[in-house]
Amino acid sequence: MNWISSLEDKIKEKTAVVGIVGLGYVGLPLAVSFSKIFKVIGYNNHKEKVKMLQSGRSYIEDVKDEDINLETFRPTDDYYELEKCDFIIIAVPTPLRQDKSPDLSYIENAAETVGKILKKGHFVILKSTTYPGTTEDFMAPILEETSQLKVAEDFGLAYSPERVDPGNKEYNIENTANVVGGLTPEFTRICRMLFEDVTGTIIEVKDCKTAEAVKMIENIFRNVNIALVNELSLIFEKMDIDVWESIEAAKTKPYGFMPFYPGPGVGGHCIPLDPYYLSYRAKHFGIIPRFIETAGEINDFMPIHTVNLAKKGLQKMDKRLRGSRILLLGIAYKSNISDTRESPAKNIIEELKEAGASIKVYDPHSECIHTRYGSFKSEENFINNLEWADCAIIITDHDEFLENSAIINLIKKRELIVVDTRNALKLSKGDFDNYIKL
Ligand SMILES: NC(=O)c1ccc[n+]([C@@H]2O[C@H](COP(=O)([O-])OP(=O)(O)OC[C@H]3O[C@@H](n4cnc5c(N)ncnc54)[C@H](O)[C@@H]3O)[C@@H](O)[C@H]2O)c1
Repeated sequence: MNWISSLEDKIKEKTAVVGIVGLGYVGLPLAVSFSKIFKVIGYNNHKEKVKMLQSGRSYIEDVKDEDINLETFRPTDDYYELEKCDFIIIAVPTPLRQDKSPDLSYIENAAETVGKILKKGHFVILKSTTYPGTTEDFMAPILEETSQLKVAEDFGLAYSPERVDPGNKEYNIENTANVVGGLTPEFTRICRMLFEDVTGTIIEVKDCKTAEAVKMIENIFRNVNIALVNELSLIFEKMDIDVWESIEAAKTKPYGFMPFYPGPGVGGHCIPLDPYYLSYRAKHFGIIPRFIETAGEINDFMPIHTVNLAKKGLQKMDKRLRGSRILLLGIAYKSNISDTRESPAKNIIEELKEAGASIKVYDPHSECIHTRYGSFKSEENFINNLEWADCAIIITDHDEFLENSAIINLIKKRELIVVDTRNALKLSKGDFDNYIKL
């Protein structure tokens, strides 16, 4: 087919134009990496974000302003500009609905948008995380219907899962292996060629649904293992065993073990959500995925357990949650980033408010978190607010909190109750009545 060899030539000659739909945690770093080699048109339907990028400013922590090269990267909120592209990569959100079923409306909207400008010879790649079958059975029909073109005959289609880990200083798009699976073996090959100079090693798999399954395996593996270690932490707490010390020792085994750590609950746009995508799909095939759902339930219990620990700590000091002043240290879902999406801090704040506590939050990276009790803005001054609090709960292991001497001194002087859900202070369990470690 002519258009396929033309795409190959454009990749080889580096004249291919790459379109990216959705410039968020995934799409923006991808646009930056592609723009080192190809011309990139980045389409986002959020005008303010596009304006920022057009003036050379980034809103994603991992992308520095100087990484944005407007000579090769053109951010736009006009989807017609995607017409000039040879490849169009879709990286839009895949959240859950209230009932934990997949919300594919963003993929649907993006596919309709792309369908409007789709021409013979275009190649579409989905990057959003989703259940196996979405690219071929859900997205392709929308593209076909909107464009009146036929997949494989007129345009190419592939899926490539995204592995970016926000805040990770060691691994990024360019040094992480990238999996690709096309609708046909030829499309897998073209997708490989496109990503070859941009990402780490390319791993080809048989088709789109196998590539989609890879992402499901990775995130479910993480979710289930975190749930396992959360459950162990609940058991060991009753047995007066320090789960952290046990994990440190267990991880010295050089094979057959990989450490995971307990915490106040899982957060972010991936781990708490993606497993339910597969769970939902499995039910269509008559399989009730007990393992996946149990992991979700255990992880969802951890914010409540964290509140119970605070209650226990306060009781030891003859205090009650009602009327107590609680400072949350960290509202981001993981260390040294600002992302608060699905952060366990939200549920913890809501539970504490329901119990009648006064809440303040402090986070050196995040400005604000939204809850059903309104928005909580990070305090400016950490130390003053430590002095205000009856109890501080360490939710996020940001560097600023690790072995923090101001917090440790207040514990030693018995002036503050601290619940440490991340082993951030590295004090031994049981050393101080007012130090409660998960
Ligand atoms: N954040 C991560 O660490 C991560 C890692 C791997 C995979 N993923 C997956 O990648 C996908 C994207 O996640 P994200 O974290 O980048 O989301 P995000 O919310 O940070 O970014 C998505 C962007 O797409 C834009 N958008 C939404 N609908 C659009 C449309 N129809 N047209 C144009 N722009 C549109 C939004 O304005 C937003 O800027 C999800 O499926 C997610 O599960 C995320």
